[in-house]
Amino acid sequence: MKIVITGGLGYIGAHICTVLNQKGYKVILVDNLSNSFIKMYHQLIALLGEESIVFEKKDITQSDEIKELFQKHSDINGVIHLAALKSVNQSITQPLSYYQNNVGGLITLLSEIKSKNIPFIFSSSCTVYGQADQLPIKETSPFKSSFSPYGYTKQIGELIIKDIVKSNDSFKAMCLRYFNPIGAHPSAMIGEWPIGEPQNLVPLMTQVGIGKRKELKIFGDTYNTPDGTCIRDYIHVMDLAEAHVLGLEYLFSSNSNHYIYNVGLGKGVSVKEMIHRFEKIIEKPIRQKVSKIREGDVPVAYADASKIKTQLSWQPKYSIDDALLSAWKWEKQLHSHNDFQVS
Ligand code: NAD
Ligand code: UFG
Repeated sequence: MKIVITGGLGYIGAHICTVLNQKGYKVILVDNLSNSFIKMYHQLIALLGEESIVFEKKDITQSDEIKELFQKHSDINGVIHLAALKSVNQSITQPLSYYQNNVGGLITLLSEIKSKNIPFIFSSSCTVYGQADQLPIKETSPFKSSFSPYGYTKQIGELIIKDIVKSNDSFKAMCLRYFNPIGAHPSAMIGEWPIGEPQNLVPLMTQVGIGKRKELKIFGDTYNTPDGTCIRDYIHVMDLAEAHVLGLEYLFSSNSNHYIYNVGLGKGVSVKEMIHRFEKIIEKPIRQKVSKIREGDVPVAYADASKIKTQLSWQPKYSIDDALLSAWKWEKQLHSHNDFQVS
């Protein structure tokens, strides 16, 4: 069976590719390389072999490119849609790019595949909940006013999908609301590798650990949490990848056509605790400084992940420490290869 992953050379897409490959699927990676390197494709081939992975450089906002893709590959069995811009903070200063890429891209893609009734998985985010009233957060928790345009693009995306499945019984879709994916493939051959400066806590922390960055800024320590720093639900990217494959297989055999699941470990961990855990793993201190809060940050978010565990039999295999160790191995790998520093 052939599966398209949009945003397939990005952080999460590349990891999903490894799980699909392991289960015998052929994978078509679609990416415009706006936040990834072609070297990621070469890494995937080195890891998995080239027989069952194809790369198509396409921009999902361009309908002619997307039409061409589905003409060339007319036998697609599923689409996992990850291609998006993802920085909460950047979306506040560049809202139009975010709406254009994330919402425009989704509409272009859906326009092409809806009539073909190809099962569809959408990368959503716990950001749709804003600051939830009740913790842990259940899927029934309402959408709140978002802290950022990025958050709105995910809310709008889910609403568009909801309307489409309502209008077409034969189109099956699943929204996965990720909490905070971290870590890297156990081989350390692929991992989080954004263009330019990373925005997320773990790659920034590993860069400080390896000496690429002087210190880690803690974005605020006066939140209403036990140590004053924000709380998140960090989940190993391989467990998240597994959830996509289980989700896809569930869609293939299911009778209903619309599903929504949280994907998180269900453990709330503060920024300071993450740093502390990482320091223990690498056995050295991380230089850190408390700085001002980052606009768009939700103080506390962690999942009630019981629905996906029960319905899809998803069971996370990795702990947060496993994830941090794998992120560290990946950082060391990046550091040791000069040709990995390309931009
Ligand atoms: P990423 O930036 O590493 O990967 C996204 C990929 O999409 C990149 O390779 C980029 O080049 C590509 N892309 C962007 N716009 C495109 C376009 N118009 N056409 C084709 N390709 C395009 O990000 P990621 O961390 O792998 O995130 C994947 C998805 O998961 C995104 O939708 C993101 O919003 C969502 N998500 C991520 C997180 C997280 O913490 N990483 C959390 C919640 C949700
Ligand atoms: N943080 C710091 N210093 C840093 C980077 C992050 O203190 O240098 C803190 C943030 O304030 C936050 C936590 O570490 O409290 C995690 O931040 P990340 O940037 O790693 O993750 P976010 O929770 O902000 O955002 C991520 C994804 C989004 C997604 C969101 C869902 O980047 O795509 O999770 O909550 F929507």
